[in-house]
Amino acid sequence: MDRLTDRKLLQCVLGQKFDVPPMWIMRQAGRYLPEYREVRASTKGFLDLCYTPEKAIEVTLQPLRRFDLDAAILFSDILVIPDALGQSVRFQPGEGPLLEPLEGMDDVKALSVDKVLDHLNPVLETVSGLRSTIDDDKTLIGFCGAPWTVATYMIGGKGSPDQAAARLFALQQPEAFTALMDVLVEASAQYLIAQFKAGADVVQIFESWALNLDEVAFDSYVIAPTVKLINRVRAEIPNAPIIGFPRGAAANVPKYIKATGVNTVGVDYATPLHYAKDHIAPLATVQGNLDPLRLVAGGDQMNRAVDAILEAFSDTPHIFNLGHGIVPQTPIAHVEQLVRRVKG
Ligand code: CP3
Repeated sequence: MDRLTDRKLLQCVLGQKFDVPPMWIMRQAGRYLPEYREVRASTKGFLDLCYTPEKAIEVTLQPLRRFDLDAAILFSDILVIPDALGQSVRFQPGEGPLLEPLEGMDDVKALSVDKVLDHLNPVLETVSGLRSTIDDDKTLIGFCGAPWTVATYMIGGKGSPDQAAARLFALQQPEAFTALMDVLVEASAQYLIAQFKAGADVVQIFESWALNLDEVAFDSYVIAPTVKLINRVRAEIPNAPIIGFPRGAAANVPKYIKATGVNTVGVDYATPLHYAKDHIAPLATVQGNLDPLRLVAGGDQMNRAVDAILEAFSDTPHIFNLGHGIVPQTPIAHVEQLVRRVKG
């Protein structure tokens, strides 16, 4: 048990406060690192990288070698779930993900949950390989996309600024939409349970598209499936430590925390600090929330923004992070500056 209490970031997820907050960086492995680009160039495609444990372990470890971070996050992608369900998923360099869009109930019925864990076995091998490689005091974070966020890609076939295809599908084909969400809840639950069994200490549920939804849609697309997912996971892994990241959920965040029971909530950078302090921190550990572009620009403006975040959450459990993923143009020296500023 000592090994678990040494994991500062895990303890913070569970509600312990530290004078120097533990930190990690969303999307900390990736194209801003030359050593990532080198490994990536040696693979046929992005999904091959996710499904080759030796390489996935290597790129997961790269940011920890450079920076004093408190957690490793499994290298994979939220779109391995549609791939494992049998939908065609491709990553086109420079274009992002491209999927064969689901058009209706027939396409949803063609998805098969049965083979998901077999298909994702290499990712689970990565998790267990990581746990036996990283230091005992480092927290290992697993993850999946939330059902709604994954559905926006499965229905739209690609990223979009407003998720209009998925929002219309949900309104015009409610039965097919519900069937799809049920498939995603089940596949994601099996996947997260397997990640915990393979050695993940905590999992993050990425709801990257919690924005652009009215109140009724937020309740039924974001909250209800996330509640089902978390209840299903905790039925097998009691008290499973979970971080929710409902990006753009704004004033819906308190309701999201109360309904889902996440231990920690990732706060996006558009959330005012006083709002997070008064309405989010009393309910859960706060994770966040530096604007990734402040990290790109660096300098004094970044230091001031970091100090304001540290100050706002100085008397509450807080995990320092960005308010969304690090971007490819981020200078490595600025990440070094950030870690120094947070850790002193
Ligand atoms: O350190 C890590 O966090 C790496 C693991 C990771 C990746 N994607 C690797 C990746 C994680 C946790 C993700 C999550 C993810 N994937 C999200 C949620 C987080 C967020 O940013 O909102 C989403 C929406 C996706 C879907 C996705 N994957 C997109 C839209 C893209 C293309 C655009 C982009 O951000 O690069 C990807 C590709 C992807 N996933 C890359 C990496 C390192 C780049 C692809 C490459 O190297 O060729």
